[in-house]
Amino acid sequence: MYNLANRGDDELIDHLAGEGIAYVPFFPLGGYDSLQSDTLDNVAADVDATPMQVALAWLLQRSPNILLIPGTSSVTHLRENVAAANLRLPAEAIATLDRIGT
Ligand SMILES: NC(=O)c1ccc[n+]([C@@H]2O[C@H](COP(=O)([O-])OP(=O)(O)OC[C@H]3O[C@@H](n4cnc5c(N)ncnc54)[C@H](OP(=O)(O)O)[C@@H]3O)[C@@H](O)[C@H]2O)c1
Repeated sequence: MYNLANRGDDELIDHLAGEGIAYVPFFPLGGYDSLQSDTLDNVAADVDATPMQVALAWLLQRSPNILLIPGTSSVTHLRENVAAANLRLPAEAIATLDRIGT
């Protein structure tokens, strides 16, 4: 399990990146209890995206070895999630989001 709010695998991800090994987190959007954060909402408003798109974009920018399989039962969410791959978060947004994690 790894996402904006659950950063327990930070060291492992960096180690695997150095070895050229992919890391695929489960619960990239928080799983059963989707991520909820005022900070995430504010960044999303700033970059004109949804909070879940920002959460996915943050993961994709966190490390090149992170691959994502966000689960959804909604075609609308599926489209949003695919579009998140093209969302580039500015450095200030990433720094703000990094403060959410533990
Ligand atoms: N091997 C394991 O032990 C294990 C354990 C857990 C999960 N997994 C796998 O990991 C993947 C992801 O797990 P997951 O689906 O449980 O967790 P997740 O991807 O973190 O979150 C899924 C939740 O986020 C919501 N969601 C998805 N896209 C959204 C969007 N754009 N906007 C708002 N809400 C959105 C979904 O609701 P909607 O349906 O309403 O979109 C669903 O409630 C799945 O493929 C799952 O099979 C594996």
